[in-house]
Amino acid sequence: MKLVFSILAGVVVLGGAALAQPPLEPSPADPATSLFTTRCAACHNDFVNNAPTLFTLQAYKPEVIVTALKTGKMARMAMGLSDEEIASIAKFITTKAGA
Ligand code: HEC
Repeated sequence: MKLVFSILAGVVVLGGAALAQPPLEPSPADPATSLFTTRCAACHNDFVNNAPTLFTLQAYKPEVIVTALKTGKMARMAMGLSDEEIASIAKFITTKAGA
């Protein structure tokens, strides 16, 4: 059942993405887009190891994402990112991605 839901949710996310928005591609105008694409998308654009998808992450508060990246579950993934970069990724996820 969980798998079926995952597949359905994936179709909805992908279908919506194809219709309503350009693909997430690195954009020189917005460094956060390329940071997300290179550092996060591999796991969060898809159902990798139960990682919440971008679709799910959009519902998070930016502070929750920042905390996850600085001291929480994603601290290892965010290694080397500056405070500004982390803040920009949180903003990107919650304001731009898929909106
Ligand atoms: C190697 C795969 C991988 C990469 C790369 C990755 N994540 Fe995650 N992320 C996960 C998984 C798996 C979970 C679920 C962890 C759990 O709930 O135990 C997760 C959870 C999260 C959560 C929720 C944390 C919480 O406390 O519930 C956020 C926010 C998040 N990731 C953001 C990011 C951002 C932003 C990046 C890029 C800097 C990133 N992740 C890179 C795999 C990844």
